[in-house]
Amino acid sequence: MDLDAFRTLLTPAGRGALDEAVKILADGADPVAAASAMRRSHPADLTAAALTQASLRRRAEAKFGPDAAVMYFTPHGLEQATRPEVAAHRAARIRAAGLQADGLPADGTPADGTPAHGEPEGGPAVLDVCCGIGGDLLALTRAGCPVDAVDLDPLTVEIARANAAALGLSGLAHVRTGDAALTDPGGYGLLFADPARRGARGRTFDPMAYSPTWPVVLDLVARAPAACLKVAPGIPYEFIPEGAEAEWVSYRGEVKEAAIWTGMGPGGRRATLLPSGATLTASGAEAETGPVSRYLYEPDGAAVRAHLVAEVAALVSGRLVDSRIAYITSDRLVRTEWASCYEVTDVMPFSLKRLRAVLRERRVGVVTIKKRGSAVDVERLRKDLRLSGGNSAVIVLTRIEERPFALLCQPVTSANG
Ligand SMILES: C[S@@+](CC[C@H](N)C(=O)[O-])C[C@H]1O[C@@H](n2cnc3c(N)ncnc32)[C@H](O)[C@@H]1O
Repeated sequence: MDLDAFRTLLTPAGRGALDEAVKILADGADPVAAASAMRRSHPADLTAAALTQASLRRRAEAKFGPDAAVMYFTPHGLEQATRPEVAAHRAARIRAAGLQADGLPADGTPADGTPAHGEPEGGPAVLDVCCGIGGDLLALTRAGCPVDAVDLDPLTVEIARANAAALGLSGLAHVRTGDAALTDPGGYGLLFADPARRGARGRTFDPMAYSPTWPVVLDLVARAPAACLKVAPGIPYEFIPEGAEAEWVSYRGEVKEAAIWTGMGPGGRRATLLPSGATLTASGAEAETGPVSRYLYEPDGAAVRAHLVAEVAALVSGRLVDSRIAYITSDRLVRTEWASCYEVTDVMPFSLKRLRAVLRERRVGVVTIKKRGSAVDVERLRKDLRLSGGNSAVIVLTRIEERPFALLCQPVTSANG
């Protein structure tokens, strides 16, 4: 879809065509039938734009929920947009930090952005230098922050602007086409940057290949009183600037992204779970290692990425199964959102023959296989086990003191200390 086609969609005729396309797709028409039905009353280019947008809205429902029904997207814009729950969490931190336009905390005390009661009136002014279709922009304005948003791509800018209007947020959202490198974050409370991680050859994990590039982003950060950079969860530690806080966020047990915060407090590592908002920071805890006992805890990926496994072990009075593997064992059953808990029924050095014999004896026909520190091909193992029977089990493949082990477990659904 080009800019002119999108602009046509915003006219009364375009809105009518889009409503019609949404209805036709909701009624289950296939793309060819939908296009021929639309072509009876609309020109070809409007038909194409309306059907593309209608199908993007359907796809966007999983991420944006009911808002998707009034928003606009490009395929890349939708894919790269921050999930609203994660964007709202970040916006709440920014809002709660009490930063003013000049970046100083409103009451002069150090800000760490941990959401708290007694928030100041309105949020700090934010410069969003890679706004995309507006995932973060919308959350920031909803949190009461006035945002100047910039994106290199004119169509994306128009879409972000339309999204702010569709959700009644235009009053706080000012969106324009521009290059992040040419912006001045100096006059804002906070710089927000979510560089594109997708190049000509697909997704990139190398921050030097981000757009804008990492040096450009760091130069903006250096000129901003406070900053939040959205990065991939696998960002190499050496890219985290000294003194910054790195926060890994998981949503419903899946690590979604990391953010690097500057000017917001003492720095360090943080893991946050959404939707609960539970957050964990480094405490200096050190975990002992010890033999596998009654329970096995698998820490949430955000805690693992943030190197906070020892902190999770402390929460369950546990020890590590191996000093280099993120599995925790404990005699105690502790309710925590920070780890999945399993009751261990068998601990055995890994041997296909032995594992198969035990599973056959227990009539296990369904297994969930988890692994950390094991080179075993999970799908191959599943076939080789030749399972049959009405019971289920969790197999945990790991390494203990350099030797491969298999643990047979049952999930504990409600741990209650
Ligand atoms: C990951 S997306 C942003 C997603 C956004 N935070 C959201 O939640 O919808 C990155 C955006 O950066 C834009 N971009 C890439 N290089 C840029 C540059 N030098 N200046 C401004 N924007 C740029 C791309 O056009 C893309 O829309």
